[in-house]
Amino acid sequence: MSQLILCIFILLFSKAYMLLIPEAYDARLVSFISLSEGGVWDVSKVRIAGRERKLNGSISILEDLDDEQFSFYAEAYTDREGSGRYKKLPYTMPMTPICKGFNMYLPYFADSAKFGVNIDFPVDHPPCPLPKGTYYLKDILLNTSKWPSLMPRGYMKGVAYFFKNGENAGVVQVTTHVVDRD
Ligand SMILES: *[C@@H]1O[C@H](CO)[C@@H](O)[C@H](O)[C@H]1NC(C)=O
Ligand SMILES: *[C@@H]1O[C@H](CO)[C@@H](O)[C@H](O)[C@H]1NC(C)=O
Repeated sequence: MSQLILCIFILLFSKAYMLLIPEAYDARLVSFISLSEGGVWDVSKVRIAGRERKLNGSISILEDLDDEQFSFYAEAYTDREGSGRYKKLPYTMPMTPICKGFNMYLPYFADSAKFGVNIDFPVDHPPCPLPKGTYYLKDILLNTSKWPSLMPRGYMKGVAYFFKNGENAGVVQVTTHVVDRD
């Protein structure tokens, strides 16, 4: 009996594995939407520019963001066919203090935004608190080389919900289009 179960398990597993063989992909920025409540940040000068959809402009953090007051959680959605109907993915980032969260996730963007070239915010080692200031963004293209090798194709939307002292402080939503690399 247990051997049968093991057999089925291996079969299922190898089948799943066949379907999930990692293939190279590219991700392009589609849109960037942000709502700040209470003026914690200002991203009104961020643009997605040109045919290559480069992120350009500047962002302002209007107060120091520390782990005592600020936290966020994030959800991801996917729309494989581009129908506009997004399905929630099972990867959710639970409520996390802001510096801790940025230290976990910003390194995924360190290849996309090199400090001193594309941005003057230290994306690879963000300090705590995240210091207030205005930071430039220059010709940022998403570089997926250190992203998970298994990634659903199609439109992917990440939504981060920010809180200050437990109160809603704003939402940032980034949509990307993930396609097989040609
Ligand atoms: C982005 O901004 C820089 C100046 O900061 C400019 O040189 C560049 O052409 C802009 N890129 C696009 C795609 O508009
Ligand atoms: C993406 O980042 C990797 C690792 O830093 C680098 O080797 C590669 O050249 C980058 N790709 C592009 C298109 O810049």
